[in-house]
Amino acid sequence: MTTKSAIRLLVVEEEQVGTVAADVVLSALPSRQPRIGVATGATPLTLYWELGRRVASGAIDLRESTLVALDEYVGLGQWNPRSFAAYVRDVIAEPLHVAKGRVLVPDGLASDPDRAADAFEEAIATIGGIDVQIAGLGTNGHIGFNEPGSALDSSSRTVELTEQTRRDNARFFGDRLSDVPTQAITQGLGTISRARSIVLVVKGVAKARALQAAVHGPVTPDVPASVLQRHPAVTVIADREAAGELRPREEHHE
Ligand code: GLP
Repeated sequence: MTTKSAIRLLVVEEEQVGTVAADVVLSALPSRQPRIGVATGATPLTLYWELGRRVASGAIDLRESTLVALDEYVGLGQWNPRSFAAYVRDVIAEPLHVAKGRVLVPDGLASDPDRAADAFEEAIATIGGIDVQIAGLGTNGHIGFNEPGSALDSSSRTVELTEQTRRDNARFFGDRLSDVPTQAITQGLGTISRARSIVLVVKGVAKARALQAAVHGPVTPDVPASVLQRHPAVTVIADREAAGELRPREEHHE
């Protein structure tokens, strides 16, 4: 049986990704106490800057939001500038005026990472789940740190990072591969799938094949992001380079 994927695809110029993504995220948020899942990495930066600009101008107020990280490196804590906890605090929470108590990040310094992952999954359930999950795409098709082979219904857990992912992320570690942690705690594919809506932002030619496989390929653990095809409310915002391998008839040009 083949089910038609409901993924909404917006292909825009690179400079428009942040503003278009901000519009999509804001339109999907409930008016009161939104719970926003936040990816880290380079791709969503312009989205967070745009949200910060709108907050600064008084156009929107996100103070009542709860921010939920997608993942964290095992071994890095919030005072390490390379941790995702630091990214969420400095790049997202601070400009959006979200208080520390409203930010959930897996504890990368926990002595028992598996327990920390369980506690993170539980904390997400306790706040009532995520309204909008912002996600990026790995060159190998991962979302969060759900590497190829991840169960499509997986929960938050400790994972081993692939060599490719560690190489891709070495740029955030002064290009020293040996400094890139080998493990992470990530929201699972099941966790991500429980978000009410999902906004995937993808830029650059290095992601083009992974995006094609995620959107049009078979739904398989080999391409973790392909699980998005089963979700009823996914919007993909891609720049032209990332969209380069997609079938043109599927594109919706803004
Ligand atoms: C990383 C992170 C993801 C991120 C993705 C893409 O490894 N775990 O959360 O979305 O890979 O990162 P970037 O946007 O920097 O290419």
